[in-house]
Amino acid sequence: MLKDKKIIIGVTGSIAAYKVSPLVRLLIKEEAIVQVIMTPAAHDFVTPLTMATLSGQPVLTEPFNPVDGDWTSHVELGLWADLMLIAPATANTLAKMAGGIADNLLLTTYLSAKCPVFFAPAMDLDMYRHPTTKQNIEKLQSFGNQLIAPTEGELASGLCGAGRMEEPENIINILKEFFTKGWDFPAKKIMVTAGPTFEAIDPVRFIGNHSSGLMGFAIANEFAERGGDVTLISGPTALNAAEGINLVGVTSADEMHKACMENFEEADIIVMTAAVADYTPESVAEEKIKKSGDRMVLKLKPTKDILAEMGKKKKPGQFLVGFALETEDAVTNAEKKLKNKKLDLIVLNSPKDEGAAFGVETNKVTMITKDFQQTKYDLKLKLDVAIDIVDKIKELSV
Ligand code: CTP
Repeated sequence: MLKDKKIIIGVTGSIAAYKVSPLVRLLIKEEAIVQVIMTPAAHDFVTPLTMATLSGQPVLTEPFNPVDGDWTSHVELGLWADLMLIAPATANTLAKMAGGIADNLLLTTYLSAKCPVFFAPAMDLDMYRHPTTKQNIEKLQSFGNQLIAPTEGELASGLCGAGRMEEPENIINILKEFFTKGWDFPAKKIMVTAGPTFEAIDPVRFIGNHSSGLMGFAIANEFAERGGDVTLISGPTALNAAEGINLVGVTSADEMHKACMENFEEADIIVMTAAVADYTPESVAEEKIKKSGDRMVLKLKPTKDILAEMGKKKKPGQFLVGFALETEDAVTNAEKKLKNKKLDLIVLNSPKDEGAAFGVETNKVTMITKDFQQTKYDLKLKLDVAIDIVDKIKELSV
């Protein structure tokens, strides 16, 4: 998978640079062609001789040789590579990459790179969670650069937390997966909704539904793994989004509507898996409603149909996917929704199908395109259904 792949490893000045030795060794074992570029600060942590010996190529640091004027073309390097990986990526280098600063060979090569760029941050936990670093990482992701998130554990400072560069074996697996699956959605803005909404009746009670959010989270993860810049808007669930996904938590249909509208305009692909309440109480009691012996009537009003609103506002180039949960006349009803809400694709599922209900790990879907082409799928794990859905979106949208 990595055989003959031309890979630039950009090493910056972090103690995690020691992990680049096994990383380069593993790449060479996989028969990749590795060119190491080191920042001047990286020399303090690992020697160019080590890197040159392991990679079988002289290490590059200076843009030119001050003695004979011989210079290294960052443009050629940027064109040569199939992939550039900056590992470890310090807060300083991330900030420079995000800001377009080009004061060393690694940075000029990064700016010239035509290939996919991955970066594996390594730093102390407070540096990693600093808003500046977070913003820089988000900016780099919005350029289509792929984050290899640091892991949690003991750091060189003795503190414990997120900031450890990912282990070389795992980085190799990520690169292998990338070269196998490809990068289908580089820098594409993807918006996915997931989970239920809770509509308050009083301060302690609500109307909700059984949606677990599994399907939406799996789709969001799949997009992120394929290079998408993903915003996941989710109602209350027990799930965690993968690192690198921008998770926006909401509770009610109204909040979901607001969050969706805030993100809709810049989204290239929108997938609405959320089980949004169709009705909400007309008014929310300020205090907990006391029981009385009488019958109780709860007045409900319709919520805004977010998907239908997006269908109306959709611009050319935006791809809109809805879900339909139907118990009777499934295909006819789904096709009506597809048409009325001006969707590009609808994913139909029925809780009547065994293994396709709320809260289970499997699902059985039929996908219908806007020209009413149907594809039926077998009962599968929701993780695999997510792959089918993302594959279909790729086929139709990219
Ligand atoms: N949806 C939405 N906003 C709502 C209700 C639903 O965006 N207020 C979206 C869901 O996320 C889903 C699709 O619309 O992608 C279909 O939802 P569904 O509730 O099945 O369709 P409805 O049009 O509400 O029709 P019905 O409930 O009568 O089947």
